[in-house]
Amino acid sequence: MSNSDSILELVNVSINFGGLQAINRLSFQVESGQIFALIGPNGAGKTTAINMITGIYPPAEGEIYFEGQVLSGKKPYQVTRMGIARTFQNIQVFQNMTVRENVMVGLHTRSRSEFVRCLLHTPMVRKEERMIRRRCNEILEFMGLASKAGLLAAGLPYGDQKKVEIARTLATEPRLLLLDEPAAGLNLQETHEMSHTILMIRETGVTVLLVAHNMDLVMGISDTITVLNYGEKIADGSPAEIQNSDKVVAAYLGREPW
Ligand SMILES: Nc1ncnc2c1ncn2[C@@H]1O[C@H](COP(=O)(O)OP(=O)(O)OP(=O)(O)O)[C@@H](O)[C@H]1O
Ligand SMILES: [Mg+2]
Repeated sequence: MSNSDSILELVNVSINFGGLQAINRLSFQVESGQIFALIGPNGAGKTTAINMITGIYPPAEGEIYFEGQVLSGKKPYQVTRMGIARTFQNIQVFQNMTVRENVMVGLHTRSRSEFVRCLLHTPMVRKEERMIRRRCNEILEFMGLASKAGLLAAGLPYGDQKKVEIARTLATEPRLLLLDEPAAGLNLQETHEMSHTILMIRETGVTVLLVAHNMDLVMGISDTITVLNYGEKIADGSPAEIQNSDKVVAAYLGREPW
């Protein structure tokens, strides 16, 4: 059973692809309200861990718990409904939709209206539509995208597109948000804004699991860090502890990653 303070817990989780052991008996706990970073060299298994948590790949062994409930074996849509959202290492926004429409898609995932009731256009559905619009505006405001709501996602700078992707995940009202390389491809200013955005999201009570190569970002905002190498955990601790770990430095081929 899960530790009471942890929102997410992995217990001896493993997965292999053919002969490759991508994750080997990985265990960690994410405390509620934290920014928890998962770092490690290319191919260490970070994205695979996110894919297992979100139900894309069921673990071959081990268990995953979310708020004390078994998560392993659930389908991605069930995981979303339980209160977990993610972004992707390769950005996934609807390029041909506006910023507002992208967020509306996320909100409709959350909507309780069924198809038939939508067709009937009952007062209840209309009320729900109003609530969705209001919530959409709140999220756009929160993410600093309000003035760009009517623009096509495709025409936005990369940093704004990343914000749109995060805005859409926030629309599903997650309690746990998994961010896979949110600063990849961002310039210095955009990376700084991304740090601020992640801190603000945490302020709203959402727990964040952050995967990132950018050590300024990781060391600047994380409460706890777990380091993976070849699918195994090699260290965990505070940013200061991780920066002083010989094992971690060695895993990054002897070059200090920060
Ligand atoms: N669907 C798959 N089929 C086969 N191998 C896979 C699959 N997904 C991941 N792998 C392999 O598993 C290992 C871990 O990959 P993963 O993408 O999780 O690494 P990562 O830590 O996210 O790396 P990066 O920092 O480059 O994003 C790699 O060797 C990768 O090639
Ligand atoms: Mg990855």
